[in-house]
Amino acid sequence: MSTAPSATEQFDDQASKRLESIYLTPDVVEQREKVLALLAPRVGEHALDIGCGPGLTTESLALAVGAGGHVLGVDIAEPMLAIAKQRCASLPQVSLGMADVTALPYEDARFDCALASQVYEYVEQIDTALKELARVIKPGGRAVLVDTDWESAVWASHDDVRMRKILETWNEHIPHPQLPRSLKRRMEQAGFIKVRVEVVPLLNLAYDPQTYSVGMMDMLGSFVAGRRSLSADDVAAWKEDARAIGAENNYFFSLNRYVFTGERAV
Ligand SMILES: C[S@@+](CC[C@H](N)C(=O)[O-])C[C@H]1O[C@@H](n2cnc3c(N)ncnc32)[C@H](O)[C@@H]1O
Repeated sequence: MSTAPSATEQFDDQASKRLESIYLTPDVVEQREKVLALLAPRVGEHALDIGCGPGLTTESLALAVGAGGHVLGVDIAEPMLAIAKQRCASLPQVSLGMADVTALPYEDARFDCALASQVYEYVEQIDTALKELARVIKPGGRAVLVDTDWESAVWASHDDVRMRKILETWNEHIPHPQLPRSLKRRMEQAGFIKVRVEVVPLLNLAYDPQTYSVGMMDMLGSFVAGRRSLSADDVAAWKEDARAIGAENNYFFSLNRYVFTGERAV
């Protein structure tokens, strides 16, 4: 059993709003567009947005499938669903529901395609969740899954030991911090074929609050402070150091998102 806090503990009102604003930074918007292009939703399709969060992907899917299609966004965190409801209020082709992705309350073969962006790394019972995903997608239907391995992070610092400790401690926020390494095999075992993997990196070359990495510093900082001998002072010093590196024009952050595409076996 992992000791990571549950998704409902992690995504309260404040964290959900914070994540929404980070996911609206131009670098994350660009990443989302690349991921959606890999799913290639078509007009009239029925799509499932697994762990829809603030509904950014739900909205994009809805615009792609059009008024004759349908998008069902599902999440376990009420504050996320509240944001998604507001975002998608003017899109009648969207429905939103609360469910755990390990037990989807939908009939077999209901969806033409499904997207799960940054979700399965939070799910302890990952293989059960993937089987559920395969069950609700039509034979021949498509799935796109996005997950991160934070060991792919390169984050410039004047104190690499502290930086490494922060990243190692941050790994504890989810039960599967290295999920991409086993996800192809797990998808195949769950009933997906033609599984392919692409890397979509996030790259920030300036200390800019309107980027993913600077936006994430508060979230990382509040999680790691008080764990593994990292104090609030260590976190404050790390943040100050990042600002200083930025002022020296040496800011550098890179992180890989791994995007898995697969087809539900017939
Ligand atoms: C990092 S957010 C990503 C949100 C969204 N997919 C996006 O990319 O904008 C992870 C989301 O997965 C949801 N989640 C995590 N575990 C879940 C579970 N077991 N069932 C349903 N949703 C879950 C969380 O509540 C959260 O909204």
